[in-house]
Amino acid sequence: MRIPDIIIAVDGYSSTGKSSFAKMVAAEFGFLYLDSGAMYRGVTLVAMEKGMIDAGGKIDEPALKATLDKGLDLHFRRDEGLTRLFLGERCIEEEIRTLAVSSHVSPVSAIPFVRSFVDDKLHEFSRGGRVIMDGRDIGTTVFPNAEVKIFMTADELVRAQRRFDELVSKGQVPVFDEVLANLKERDYIDSHREASPLTQAPDAYVMDNTHMTMHEELVWMLGLLQGRFGILEAPALSC
Ligand code: DC
Repeated sequence: MRIPDIIIAVDGYSSTGKSSFAKMVAAEFGFLYLDSGAMYRGVTLVAMEKGMIDAGGKIDEPALKATLDKGLDLHFRRDEGLTRLFLGERCIEEEIRTLAVSSHVSPVSAIPFVRSFVDDKLHEFSRGGRVIMDGRDIGTTVFPNAEVKIFMTADELVRAQRRFDELVSKGQVPVFDEVLANLKERDYIDSHREASPLTQAPDAYVMDNTHMTMHEELVWMLGLLQGRFGILEAPALSC
């Protein structure tokens, strides 16, 4: 089944499985997957490593701005179907997923000059289209004209458990209550900041995946795309 060359925007709360969903859809329909949150995490990692965030979480904004203005070389590279984030020649995919980065990324991503730096990068990497991108403001700010917008949500405890399991699978030793607190705090900051807060675009399709398997998510997406583009053919799914 051939889906046209469109942009698919996937937004939603933390740990709703946006990236797993978007990666699966990208692999199934031959789209480029871009993780906008990774860019915010990359900027946060740089700020942490350069000592621009103090022990109390205060961000040295002038120093961070100077670093971004100088032209920070954060970029995605495609590697066997996966898209990975690089800082220069250094792959930083693992470092950006730690709880330490998670606990600073929302305040960093609320800074307007950080958002415009990331938005420019996202547009640069999406040139050519046929992209599925996940984040918080993709369907509202980054690609307000995206042909398909999805808004994902799920029960808070289920999301915290997923995040916890993900950290454990990466060899980290998380504390469930800390993971839950971090998730709630990020949702709050993401939804209440002034610059591009997380909101559901009026024309987004809502997916609550609290009780859905990945396969059910794919079937849901398939139904949506078939209806949206008038495709009658019943495709064979790979998973
Ligand atoms: O999806 P994630 O958890 O990796 O995102 C990390 C943070 O980046 C999240 O707390 C909010 C921010 N973010 C954002 O503000 N806008 C986006 N489009 C994507 C992420």
